Amino acid sequence: MTQFKRTLVTTALPYANGPVHIGHLAGVYIPADIYVRYLRLKGDDVLLIGGSDEHGVPITLKARNEGVMPQDVVDKYHNIIKNSFADFGISFDIYSRTSNKIHYETASEFFKMLYAKGEFIEKESEQYYDEEAKQFLADRYITGTCPHCGKDGAYGDQCESCGTSLNALDLINPRSTISGSAPVLRTTKHWYLPLDKHEPFLRQWILEDHKEWKSNVYGQCKSWLDMGLQPRAVSRDLDWGVPVPVEGAEGKVLYVWFDAPIGYISATKELTSQWEKYWKDTETRMLHFIGKDNIVFHCIVFPTMLKAEGTFILPENVPANEFLNLEGDKISTSRNWAVWLHEYLVDFKDKQDVLRYVLTANAPEAKDNDFTWKDFQARNNNELVAIFGNFVNRTMVLTHKYFDGKTPAPHTFDSFDNETLNSISIIVKNVEEALVQFKFREAVKEAMNLARLGNKYLADTEPWKLIKTDSEKTATILYVALQITANLSILMEPFLPFSAQKLRTMLNIPAADWSLCGQKEIIAPNHAIEQPQLLFEKIEDDVIQQQLNRLEETKANNGIAAVQQVNPAKENINYDTFSTMDIRIGTILEAEKVAKTKKLMKLTVDTGFDRRTVVSGIAEHYTPDEVIGRQVSILVNLAPRVIKGIESKGMILMAEDADGKLLFVHPSAKASNGATVS
Ligand code: MF3
Ligand code: ZN
Repeated sequence: MTQFKRTLVTTALPYANGPVHIGHLAGVYIPADIYVRYLRLKGDDVLLIGGSDEHGVPITLKARNEGVMPQDVVDKYHNIIKNSFADFGISFDIYSRTSNKIHYETASEFFKMLYAKGEFIEKESEQYYDEEAKQFLADRYITGTCPHCGKDGAYGDQCESCGTSLNALDLINPRSTISGSAPVLRTTKHWYLPLDKHEPFLRQWILEDHKEWKSNVYGQCKSWLDMGLQPRAVSRDLDWGVPVPVEGAEGKVLYVWFDAPIGYISATKELTSQWEKYWKDTETRMLHFIGKDNIVFHCIVFPTMLKAEGTFILPENVPANEFLNLEGDKISTSRNWAVWLHEYLVDFKDKQDVLRYVLTANAPEAKDNDFTWKDFQARNNNELVAIFGNFVNRTMVLTHKYFDGKTPAPHTFDSFDNETLNSISIIVKNVEEALVQFKFREAVKEAMNLARLGNKYLADTEPWKLIKTDSEKTATILYVALQITANLSILMEPFLPFSAQKLRTMLNIPAADWSLCGQKEIIAPNHAIEQPQLLFEKIEDDVIQQQLNRLEETKANNGIAAVQQVNPAKENINYDTFSTMDIRIGTILEAEKVAKTKKLMKLTVDTGFDRRTVVSGIAEHYTPDEVIGRQVSILVNLAPRVIKGIESKGMILMAEDADGKLLFVHPSAKASNGATVS
C-alpha cells in the first residue's frame, strides 16, 4: 500500500444557476468538510477544493428566461453559494469558479494537450438545429418524449423521470426549448473522447484495484463498464463556455463536463504555486466527494482524461452519496421544494451546527434518505440539547458552584471513574475508524456517545447529592466530567465546529489539538474555566410548524401552477363593450345529435321570451337525455349562423376544463327563463 504524504479533497462544483440547499450540504460538502477538518486537526497536509460550475445549458437557459446575460446569472449565484458555504463553516482552502481566466487557460491547455497527443476522434454527425433561433440544440435545449419510459419532458442529454442518459436523436417528438418548434437535422463537427479505447485500463483500475470503493459507486461503475463504453463528445455548438482551442472550431465550446472537473485543477493552481505537488505526485491521495448523479463523470470520464494526458494522478477514492429527499418528496429547484441554506439561516440564526448535525446523523450514505422537520426538531431537542448541551452545562455549572470555576484536583479513582476515563480513548478510536472509512453517520453517532457517557456518569454519581457528604469524591467526579467535556470540545470540532469552538472558549482551551483527543487529562487541576453559556436551545413546536406551513404553501402553489396551464387573460375591455352582450338564462327543451357530425347537437331552448334553435358543440361530452331540462346561460344576440344546414341563433356558454371537458355554466339555483346574466 502506498504511504500517502498529502491529501487533495475535491467537492463537486455546484452549477451557479440557483442557490444551494440541504441536499448539497448533506451529500457532498458536510462529509468533505468533516473529513478535511479531521485530517487538518491531525496535522496532515490536506487541501479542500471547491468552486462554482458556471458553464452548461442550465445556465444559458436561465439567462435566456430572465432576459440577462449568462455572466449575470453566474455572478449572482456564485456569490450566494459561496456565502452559504462560508456561513455553514465549509472550510474550503479555495472556493473558485469556472468563469475565471485561469480556468479558461487551464482547460484550453488540457484540451490542446490531448489534441496534440491524438487522444480525440474528430467526427461529423447530424444534430438537431432550431431554424427560428438559428442555433444547434445541445443537451437541454431540446426536449421530447423519453424513448425508455415514455414520459414527456425528457431532455437531449437525460430523462429526469427515469434517470436514463439519452442521445437527443432518440427523443420521440423532439422540440426546441427555445422556440418550441420542431428542429431539423444539420451536420456539425465535434471532438470525442474514445472511452472505449480506455476500457481495459478502467476495468482493471476500478473493478480490480478499487474493490474497496463504496458499493453504490463500484456498482454503478461496473454496470457502465459492462454495458460497454462509447466515445463521448467533449465539445458543443454553444456560445457560452471555454472555446474549443483549435482551428476550425468557431462557435464551439468545450462540453461543460469536460471543463468543469478541470476546474479542480484550475482552483488548485489559483491557490498555490505548489499545485503540481497535489496533482502529479503519486504520494498524493486524491478524493472526489460527489453526489450519485456525478459518479460516471468522476470515476470514468475524468480519470480517462487524466490518464490520457499522462502526467496526472487518479483519484484514490470517490465517496459518492445518494440523494436526500425533503418530507418524502424529491428535492427540486424548479418546484421550490427545498430548504435553501440562505433562508434557513434567517429562520435559525446561529444554528448552523444543528443542521450540520442532523444532515450528518441522517446522511444519505448508502441509500436515499428523508429530511423531515420533525426529525430535525427531535434530534436537536433530544440529542444536542438533552445529551450534549445538558452534560456540558451541568458540569460547568457545578464546577463554578462547588469549586469556584477551577478544575478540582481528583482524589482516588474508583473502578467506575477508571472505566469512564478509559472509555474516552475507545470512543475516539471508534470515531476515527468510522471517519477514515467515510462513514460519517457512524462517526457522529460515536462522537455523541462521548456526551452520552458523560451524561450517564453524572446521572449515576450524582455529585449534587454527594457534595453534602463527600467533597473529595465530588472533586474527583467533576474532574472526570471536565476531562470528558474537554475531549468533546476537540472530538466535535469536525462535526460541529461552531459549538466546539464555543466550548473551547468556555473551557479556556486555546486550540483544538487532536493529539490530546482521547487523553484522560486535557485540563489540569486548577485550570480556570469561564461561565457556561448554552450550546444548544430547545426548538419549539410552533417554529417547526412554520416550516411545515411554508412547505404546504409551496405545494399548494405548485398545484395552482399545474392547473394554470390555461390561456392567459385577454386584454381589458370597458363596460360598454361588455354590456353589448345579451346573456340570459334559458332551459333546454329538446336535444338531438346533428347527423353525420361527431360534435354537434341541435338544441331547442326556452329563453323566456322565445323558443329558438341553437347548434352547440357538446355532443362528445353529453347525450341528448343528459341535457334536456337543464338551465343554461345563452348569448342571445349573437348573429345567427347556418351550421350544417340548420340556422343556429345564439350560443350556449360552456366552461372548458383543464382536461378539455365541457361544463355548463348554469345558475346556482333554479332561475326564471329570460333572467339577465350580467
Ligand atoms: N455542476 C455539476 C452538478 O451540479 C457538478 C460538476 S462537478 C465537476 O452536477 F467535477 F465537474 F466539477
Ligand atoms: Zn425516461
